[in-house]
Amino acid sequence: MSNPHHPPAVGVLDQGPELTFPPGFLWGAATAAYQIEGAATEGGRTPSIWDTFSHTEGRVVAGHTGDVACDHYHRMPDDVRLMAEMGLKSYRFSVAWPRVQPNGSGPANQQGLDFYRRLVDELLGHGIEPWLTLYHWDLPQPLEDAGGWPARDTAARFADYAQLVADALGDRVKYWTTLNEPWCSAFLGYGSGAHAPGRSDGADAVRAGHHLMLGHGLAVQALRASRPQAQLGITVNLYPVTPATDAPADVDAARRIDGLANRFFLDPVLRGSYPADLTADLREVTDFGHVHDGDLAVISSPLDLVGINYYSRHVVAAPVEGAEPEPYWRAPSCWPGSEDVRFVTRGVPVTDMDWEIDAPGLVETLRRVHEEYTDLPLYVTENGSAFVDAVVDGRVDDVDRLAYFDAHLRAAHEAISAGVPLRGYFAWSLMDNFEWAWGYTKRFGMIWIDYDTQARIPKSSARWYAEVIRRNGLAAQ
Ligand code: FCB
Repeated sequence: MSNPHHPPAVGVLDQGPELTFPPGFLWGAATAAYQIEGAATEGGRTPSIWDTFSHTEGRVVAGHTGDVACDHYHRMPDDVRLMAEMGLKSYRFSVAWPRVQPNGSGPANQQGLDFYRRLVDELLGHGIEPWLTLYHWDLPQPLEDAGGWPARDTAARFADYAQLVADALGDRVKYWTTLNEPWCSAFLGYGSGAHAPGRSDGADAVRAGHHLMLGHGLAVQALRASRPQAQLGITVNLYPVTPATDAPADVDAARRIDGLANRFFLDPVLRGSYPADLTADLREVTDFGHVHDGDLAVISSPLDLVGINYYSRHVVAAPVEGAEPEPYWRAPSCWPGSEDVRFVTRGVPVTDMDWEIDAPGLVETLRRVHEEYTDLPLYVTENGSAFVDAVVDGRVDDVDRLAYFDAHLRAAHEAISAGVPLRGYFAWSLMDNFEWAWGYTKRFGMIWIDYDTQARIPKSSARWYAEVIRRNGLAAQ
């Protein structure tokens, strides 16, 4: 369990001294293919599980889809120009698997690869380091039809796809993330069904989690062999998990949720084993027969860095009689074997996602990974917040988002001061986009998107972040 000390419920910090980050700190912003590209049927792209899911009635708020999204596929050079104006040092994007290998197996689609080559060249031309994520949730539909991530073969398909992208872009992309947030792919996709493909079976979720990591390990081995200069990593979404009280039953609930949310991925990838308490908790769900000899050695193939997405903390308690089941990531079906654990809200300030704002949790998370797991360089590959924005006189003054970034950057600096080798930070997100099951109703961007006209308006947070990058740190407040 990560933190038995019940940290105070701290929200946005609003004061602080000037802070300078280490030289060369990689300041970036992140997006993902399905959330911004649009052009869903152009250039040889075929459906992914997210096309199918978003086109299924009742799955995404208001029936929104990624068909057009931010139309980034057509506006890419303008978007890169906006990044350059902000002074971004790096841009983290994802490649849409069904754009570059439409069936999820077989030959590459050159038109799809060409789009990413143009993007990478445009970035390099502006002095922006491309950071490529291979899998941000858009599994080609034919692979889902063949069983999806609960099927072992999907891991091999992923490694082939990784090789194909490395062949095309490995000469110019240095930083590679295999998977984005395998917890979400496995437990939201196959556990609660809140995300594509919308299946709900605890054993499938656990199998999916394993095969995602196996695909990661196989991809790392393939990339390492063909592109020895590449910096390879994975991105996991981590949460400090805190018991609501000192009561042993609450402490045990925190142990269980920490196991499923964090250690399920950290231990295999960084230690080459599943935690014994986790496999015991899951005894009723699966016998782990899907774990073959040698898998964990593949999964723990050496990395060059670890990417961490941080948004919030989980506070949990033992079950109480009559508690109402909650939706989304609090849904019991996301937590196989621990369905009766209760998520507690503390009444601290929340974002528009209802996620509690907890900047100290970022310090805890970074320190934990460094102190308990690895000396590898760490990167915050996502951190950010949704708030309700409005255009007033042509401007978007997103003070809440700006304060969120400020508080979390202060936390990042604190972690560095405590000895964490944190080498970069990517704000989520460069621009407003398709927020998965929430469609366009949640805005995370530093750049406002008018979805009717596709006009872009850099918000106050974008101007503020540009200044952070320029001074390599935060001004005193
Ligand atoms: C993360 C996802 C990202 C975005 C943010 C808000 O879980 O990786 O695509 O949706 O949450």
